[in-house]
Amino acid sequence: MNGIVKWFDERTGWAKGIQEYMVHPVPRLVSPLDFLGVAALFLFINQAVTGIFLAMFYVPSAASYAPHPSLSMAYESILFIMYKVPLGWVVRDLHFWGANLMVIIVVTHMLRVFYEGAYKKPREVTWWAGVGLILITLALAFTGYLLPWDQQSFWATAVGTAMFKFAPFLGHWLMTLFQGAEFTNSLTLTRFYSLHMLLLPALLVLLFAVHFTMVLKQGMSFIEEGEGAPKQKTVPFYPYTAFQMNIVVLATAAVLLFMAAEYLAPLVAPADPLNKAMYVPIPLWYFFWVYQFLKFIPYYLDPVGIIVIPGIAVLALLALPLLDRGTHREASRRKPIIAAGGLAVAALVWLTYLGFVTVPTPLPSTLEAQAHPTFSGTVEPILSGNCVSCHGPTGGNMAGQDFTTYAGVMKGGNAGKVVVPGKPDQSKLVLVLTGKVSGVPSMPLGRGALPSAWIQDVAKWVQLGAKND
Ligand code: HEC
Repeated sequence: MNGIVKWFDERTGWAKGIQEYMVHPVPRLVSPLDFLGVAALFLFINQAVTGIFLAMFYVPSAASYAPHPSLSMAYESILFIMYKVPLGWVVRDLHFWGANLMVIIVVTHMLRVFYEGAYKKPREVTWWAGVGLILITLALAFTGYLLPWDQQSFWATAVGTAMFKFAPFLGHWLMTLFQGAEFTNSLTLTRFYSLHMLLLPALLVLLFAVHFTMVLKQGMSFIEEGEGAPKQKTVPFYPYTAFQMNIVVLATAAVLLFMAAEYLAPLVAPADPLNKAMYVPIPLWYFFWVYQFLKFIPYYLDPVGIIVIPGIAVLALLALPLLDRGTHREASRRKPIIAAGGLAVAALVWLTYLGFVTVPTPLPSTLEAQAHPTFSGTVEPILSGNCVSCHGPTGGNMAGQDFTTYAGVMKGGNAGKVVVPGKPDQSKLVLVLTGKVSGVPSMPLGRGALPSAWIQDVAKWVQLGAKND
């Protein structure tokens, strides 16, 4: 073993480099907040690993899945991952929650650096790379959101990409570049997949390399670094700081595992580009602030909310180390800049909060549908979107029970009919949705209950005679 290490070290100098790094002096007192960058790195590795496994099963195609034409290949492959691939649901959940946590962690990391003034000379380049990393993280989330190709992600992306047209000069060109056409369609899916899998991760790794080498080169920042500052007490990185770092990574892993095991990543009815009735574009929660802001301004000012304000925000972040050049690091001696940052954060938090409390529940049924839910317009999307993996035409656990077509629903299951026209309270198809059939678990099996609006729609359809429209 030693021989091998020596062989490599003679040629590369790695062992010596690692050894030097391990004992390099770091500030003695560090808080968990100082390790959020490492937590973000851990989450990125999680995204890469789970992403590789997801890509083994995911099909980036909006084409129909032949055995069940109302489902796309993309959507069907997500169902397959969730219900057929062993532990596939955990992998998808880890990827979904990993993305959410990563956004929270990188933003908190940035706020810490901002508060401590750690972007100041000589760390400007580290800061710029960091701003780039945050933008790429958001772009990864935006492109990943579309991939399940369900109603929610489809319409949210349709609205999101249409906003590109407000970009100065290149707007229309950018919009068609990303969408592949004047509107969101199957080409958008493959373009987003390519960006999500290839371009954005490559850019992220590149910027991360810059960010990380700068951190290694310059060491952790000290609050009092300037000339005449008192000398800091330091400790060797290993074992003290390395140990603290591991604790932060383990805590991040624990939160991630808990979320993944406890809360399934959402999947609503399959995307239907023609179904205006289910048009509810809800953006990702970290874009709620834009979404909410747009509600406050008249529509002709939309470009201000979409381009001007986010543009100014990014430029301000980039310009920060050039504008705030004093040597002091403590917040108490940088009051104006801390106040400006605090104000911006307060506005963001407030708008995001408003976004959360006013967001419509995903896919509520429309008033039309409530009054007269049709099979093909309302019931079929609900059933095919949520039941096909187990009660679909291709079988699964419940072979012979196809609850995704009119004929299948009326035929019923192994234990007989599940629909008694006109009588929702005697129809298993309805009762099972609230877990009211003795001996049968609540459906959809293994997931939370469907939104109550959907259950009501199915019940109403049965009540109205369970007709095939
Ligand atoms: C993950 C797989 C899975 C999903 C998804 C699923 N089911 Fe089931 N379903 C089952 C299994 C397994 C049974 C049999 C349970 C038993 O008998 O113990 C069942 C039983 C039923 C029954 C009772 C059939 C009978 O004849 O007694 C109905 C009705 C039903 N499911 C409806 C639905 C509906 C509607 C959905 C979608 C909203 C759905 N299921 C989603 C697996 C699933």
